[in-house]
Amino acid sequence: MSFFIAGTGSALPEKVVSNDDLAQFLDTSDEWIYTRTGIRRRHVLTHERLNDLAIASAQTALADAGVAGAEVDLILCATLRGDTVTPSLACIVGEAIGSTAPAFDVNAACVGVLYCMEIADAFIVAGKAKTVLIVSAEAMSKLVDWTDRATCVLFGDGAGAMVLRAGSGRLAGELSTAPDSHVIRMPNIEGINSPYNQTQPEKLAIYMDGGEVYKFAVNAMGHNIEQVCARAGLTPAQIDWYLPHQANVRIIDASLRKYKIEKSKVLLNIAECGNMSATSVMVLLDEYAKKGTFHKGDKLLFVAFGGGLTSGAVIIEWKKD
Ligand code: ACO
Repeated sequence: MSFFIAGTGSALPEKVVSNDDLAQFLDTSDEWIYTRTGIRRRHVLTHERLNDLAIASAQTALADAGVAGAEVDLILCATLRGDTVTPSLACIVGEAIGSTAPAFDVNAACVGVLYCMEIADAFIVAGKAKTVLIVSAEAMSKLVDWTDRATCVLFGDGAGAMVLRAGSGRLAGELSTAPDSHVIRMPNIEGINSPYNQTQPEKLAIYMDGGEVYKFAVNAMGHNIEQVCARAGLTPAQIDWYLPHQANVRIIDASLRKYKIEKSKVLLNIAECGNMSATSVMVLLDEYAKKGTFHKGDKLLFVAFGGGLTSGAVIIEWKKD
């Protein structure tokens, strides 16, 4: 007994920013960004709060699953940083849906949703929960330096959610880290006002070594696909749908090349949404679920990598018609 996915939801900011829009104030071009990453556009927060997007996506997922907020036994939220450090984004969602269930945020960077799925599995297997709400929301536009063309062009904002119910949908999961504090790094602004602070405050913005991230990502995604398929007793060819973290089309292609996976099985929305960190796979899942892409019995493989360095993969069987 583990879980199956009973419902999904997502919410994106209204404002869409194209590569050409970025070229108005950055030394970049649609040609550079698209050929290097596969990104054309991204959604960016303007008047909306991240909380509102997270709540909207959770409400849609609950309605899709036919589950009331009060029925939820656990709320997990994958985010790098919510609108407030406390209350957590998970508690804010809990308040909005009328739940008093335990609720907490999980920061595993872009792999956060997969970490949440594995935590949900542990709670359900231990008999501590029957219904789990996972939400992911990321305000990447507030975490990048908009003068750094090497990072700000890559990211977008959004939120997504899934409702998990006790059942037999999860086939296998695999999480790992390769701890490294240099390759991807986002400092907190700390001790800014403390009379005792003797450390140099750092600016809150993502720094990364793009080439090193690229190498790590290709190896980690390939390794995690092999491990999770072995755990599930499947070959990569037996997977119906791949839902990879949407960081870069070239990373996705390079990770999957050796398994000769048909391109039509690899789901993408990076062109329209950019990299939404943990939220990418969630929005991808909801988009293709709502299009009717998945059928009962289909095997879906989620795979992701991110800051930490974290990585992981989860295989689930789709249970809805
Ligand atoms: N527009 C134009 N030129 C640019 C831009 C830009 N937006 N950004 C960088 N360049 C320049 C560089 O300055 C460099 O110029 P130089 O040769 O004069 O020094 C040149 O383009 C080539 O840069 P490279 O780094 O070699 O370009 P590359 O082909 O490796 O692509 C990229 C860079 C897209 C960052 C790639 O390495 C990548 O995708 N890495 C993985 C990044 C990633 O996945 N991040 C997400 C993980 S973190 C997370 O998800 C939270």
